[in-house]
Amino acid sequence: MEIKQKLADLARTIEEDIAKTSDLASMEDIRIKHFGKKSELLEILKNIKNYQPEERPVIGQVANKIKNILTEKLNNKKINFQAKQQKESLDSTLDGNPFVRGSLHPITTVKAQIVNIFQKLGFGISEGPDMETDYYNFTSLNFPHDHPARDEQDTFFLDKNDKDENKPLLLRTHTSPVQIRYMKAHKPPFQIVVPGTVYRSDSDVSHTPMFHQVEGLAVGENITFANLKWILSEFLYQMFGSSIDIRFRPSFFPFTEPSVEVDISCVICGGTGCRVCKNSGWLEILGAGMVHPNVFKSAGYDPEYIQGFAFGMGVERVAMLKYEINDIRLFYENDLRFLKQFR
Ligand code: PHE
Repeated sequence: MEIKQKLADLARTIEEDIAKTSDLASMEDIRIKHFGKKSELLEILKNIKNYQPEERPVIGQVANKIKNILTEKLNNKKINFQAKQQKESLDSTLDGNPFVRGSLHPITTVKAQIVNIFQKLGFGISEGPDMETDYYNFTSLNFPHDHPARDEQDTFFLDKNDKDENKPLLLRTHTSPVQIRYMKAHKPPFQIVVPGTVYRSDSDVSHTPMFHQVEGLAVGENITFANLKWILSEFLYQMFGSSIDIRFRPSFFPFTEPSVEVDISCVICGGTGCRVCKNSGWLEILGAGMVHPNVFKSAGYDPEYIQGFAFGMGVERVAMLKYEINDIRLFYENDLRFLKQFR
């Protein structure tokens, strides 16, 4: 059969042509010449009806086989060529890409330092949700219904009109709701710290709408105010150095009674008075107190038999005093010149 011989010859020609190619351009030329629209192979397939009907299937099969096998051969040659070219262009003596080492955010570092000190004092760690119900954030913590902290000015409400009181409807304004969540789920005695994110609609040099707190809670039959004083003093000495002075000042929180605010002597001026301590020589660092009986009742505890202390502090505030930063907003501007100082 004449056509069979023709196809065999053609296959050999194509193979020889492929073998002769030595760069991408010549490979492309060969592809167009032998497999393109005007190639001899395609002409044969296009005009297959000119052959005897019984010949047609064989011609089709052979022509397609030649096309498939040799196109693959050409493609493989192209791929190998490209890989080789790439390898040759690699200079293995060059330096690698410079690897920029990141660092922890100062708030992350300080939060971990705070938690760490309490862990070494025997405290466990617990967490709670950022989205809270009015009940956990306020009511269960003995906030009266008309307490100003519930005001929309401080609290970010998610859906004020929702009637389902179990549905989260605000962003927690403090980590104290975790006190109730933890007490409901555990039996005393225990002592925990609760690191977390809190939200208040407030923004200036010392306030951001989102900030961090570490809450503390120690509950048992014999936990006293003396325990509170010792633990918090020990924490402050470890955090700010043993040369600081500490002062416990009477204060008020709905969920503690008695309540205190704890001050340390100013870390900037040492107590003589400066702008940071507003010439008082003291810096307010945390709030604390003995857990209010109503809070124990919310958790299902009997305040006749159970007592404890709680405290809460702002991580940003601690970090600002430790690193002498005067504007809280610097923490959240992602300015690398600022962040790189904490490497
Ligand atoms: N929750 C209080 C606040 O946000 C801090 C606090 C916690 C005070 C526990 C006393 C006891 O300011």
